Amino acid sequence: MSSGWSWWVIGLIVFNLGVTFLLFLWAPHAKVPVLPDGTTGHVWAHGVLREGMHRLPGWWIVASAAMYLFAFGYLVLYPGFGKHEGMLEWTSGKALASATAANAGKLEPVMKRLAAMSVEAVAADAQAQRLGERLFVDNCAACHGRDGRGNPLLGIPDLTDGDWLYGDTGENITASIRDGRMGMMPPWNALGEEVVKNLTQYVLGLSGQPHDATAAAAGKTAFESTCGACHGLEGKGNSQLGAPNLSDDVWLYGGTPAAIETSIRDGRQGHMPAWTPRLSDDDIHVLAGYVLHLSTRGHVATR
Ligand code: HEC
Ligand code: HEC
Repeated sequence: MSSGWSWWVIGLIVFNLGVTFLLFLWAPHAKVPVLPDGTTGHVWAHGVLREGMHRLPGWWIVASAAMYLFAFGYLVLYPGFGKHEGMLEWTSGKALASATAANAGKLEPVMKRLAAMSVEAVAADAQAQRLGERLFVDNCAACHGRDGRGNPLLGIPDLTDGDWLYGDTGENITASIRDGRMGMMPPWNALGEEVVKNLTQYVLGLSGQPHDATAAAAGKTAFESTCGACHGLEGKGNSQLGAPNLSDDVWLYGGTPAAIETSIRDGRQGHMPAWTPRLSDDDIHVLAGYVLHLSTRGHVATR
């Protein structure tokens, strides 16, 4: 604050507090002329209401005095009086630093305890679940949803269904969060429209959905030669590549004929960002436990 502004603020405070303080000193002794019947002579409502006179109540005087004491005390101790820093030398920056340090002090032993546990044990720990939920809402909910159920329109996997693209161990889940993941499904439009349609029918058949059996049979060879390398000959997927199981009823991008056809024709490249170094290893460990907890607490029960 420049000294001009400092003096301006000081001037405003002295003027406002000064004027009200003088009023406060004057009011209890003020002599207001009264008529013999104890009223001021002001009359309203055609004489029905007349203004009476009472001394200021004691509680009001005490409360106002306490307020002035508080205000003077505050301006001595804390910043507020122009550039005066206050005897306590309080600043919002210092207050934040000490609150952060106090929080870190409380968090450290908890994080140390959890860091020594396996992801599976963290998943079952009530304190870790509360910490994990906070971290999840702050960092992951924008994509995966507050409840972790994902979004098939964007290819964001449901983390609560117990079905994993990249494997179900604590280690796999930690790696997904720490290093990120890049799903690589190439586009297959070059195979021609008919082959794409046949493959779509074949994939529908793999997952037990209604399909055109002739087209599916025609798609089988193409699937085995072109798709099997990643999705497996039976379409059961490959967690090393994040290639989804095509024979179950869990879909990253939706299981309708149109969604499957689009996946095959245009390809899909889902991107899960890496969280190191944005989050610490301990945070990632807690998050991995929380995600595992989401998937094991029962898909149906939470619906
Ligand atoms: C920008 C959007 C986005 C954000 C933010 C995000 N994710 Fe993801 N996540 C994805 C996508 C997309 C995938 C699927 C990647 C693929 O298709 O290969 C994924 C995959 C995953 C997987 C692997 C799932 C499986 O089936 O193997 C885990 C675990 C995961 N995310 C956890 C998290 C956690 C924890 C956070 C927060 C720290 C987070 N994600 C933040 C988009 C996101
Ligand atoms: C190079 C490996 C690879 C090959 C080859 C491949 N895919 Fe994929 N496919 C993937 C991956 C990885 C994903 C997941 C993409 C993502 O995470 O965004 C995927 C996703 C899909 C999906 C979407 C699944 C869902 O759950 O929504 C379909 C359908 C699919 N592939 C069908 C096929 C067919 C049919 C072929 C053969 C023409 C094929 N893929 C070839 C790797 C491959």
